[in-house]
Amino acid sequence: MPVLRSIAERFEAERPLDGIRVAACLHVTAETAALARALTRGGAEVRLAAANPLSTQDDVVETLDGGGIAVSSARGESVEDYVAHVKALVKAEPQITLDDGADLVTAVNAAGQTALGGTEETTTGIVRLRHLADEGGLRYPILALNEARTERTFNDRHGTGQSALDGILRATNILLAGHTLVLLGYGFAGKGVAERARGAGAAVIVCEVDAFRALEARMDGFEVMPILDAAERGDLFVTVTGSRAVLRAEHFKRMKDGAILANAGHFDVEVDLDGLTELAVAPVRQVLPLVEEFDLGDRRLHLLTRGRVVNLSAAEGHPASVMDVSFALQALAVEHLVRHEGKLEPKVLPVPRELDDEVARLKLAALGVEIDELTEGQRRYLTSWA
Ligand code: ADE
Repeated sequence: MPVLRSIAERFEAERPLDGIRVAACLHVTAETAALARALTRGGAEVRLAAANPLSTQDDVVETLDGGGIAVSSARGESVEDYVAHVKALVKAEPQITLDDGADLVTAVNAAGQTALGGTEETTTGIVRLRHLADEGGLRYPILALNEARTERTFNDRHGTGQSALDGILRATNILLAGHTLVLLGYGFAGKGVAERARGAGAAVIVCEVDAFRALEARMDGFEVMPILDAAERGDLFVTVTGSRAVLRAEHFKRMKDGAILANAGHFDVEVDLDGLTELAVAPVRQVLPLVEEFDLGDRRLHLLTRGRVVNLSAAEGHPASVMDVSFALQALAVEHLVRHEGKLEPKVLPVPRELDDEVARLKLAALGVEIDELTEGQRRYLTSWA
């Protein structure tokens, strides 16, 4: 993670986060460990808990604990333990919160506490926090990382695009070529999944509720149709919507025998697990370590990792070169919040463009790619109304 490393080296020299208590509710992976260490090199005290009960890498917990960064989570922990770990972060009275799904910031708010600032990594979390802010309930400023250009390109398109398929392939070992993949949700992440599945030889059908996105998918060459119609056609269904009960009883009843269901959205509510369980006529059978079979009598459906985010629950999340960009932006965002203490409104705020540009510049340098600069004449032309 060369971009994050270069920022960590500057942090170590400048100590912009000296004595700042940072609490992070992020997926506990090797890449998150690199972020936690970069922040401590800037002087922060970092505590970490999982953003999902099934995404924690236990070897990372062990290593970090030994290295002076407090981590409380364990892979496969109960929902009660998950909540207790988030509450423990709140109790430590963080000055900066880092979220992936907004569970920590909402817990800080619910406890009547405030902080100097926070960041949110996912679109799902940003949507939640905008509603909280609209109701006047957000007590401190949050930078919406996922809306930065570098995030959308790296984290969503390249990150989820590749790692969701990685999780599905690790869990099932199916061949994508010759299969029909139904993609639900054509946002930035959905686009990445659709592009890559097509590249691997799958026929891709897109289902959307947003007219513009549906049109975009159609113009990108995908079939677009309602889920009820796609239900009969799909071999593999992938949800990436940020919504709930996207696949439900009416769809399960139409699916082919052997259809596979996976979720690549943040929360495990996109596939209606209760609805699927109610339709089953036999006990659920674990057919592979990450695959459960639901026998509906006339057909069997296969659900991956109980509908939890498949790239982290069945694989290792985004590769380090993607998280290098995401977490470089996180580190710069934390520095920005600390440097602007008391000056930002308690709202969901965009990441300043300079930070986004700086990360893109550093990543290009790390990749050894050079680019042109505007000539003086071009700069004048582009900045003048005349
Ligand atoms: N989100 C997606 N992939 C991730 C990773 N490798 N580490 C932390 N958060 C992630």
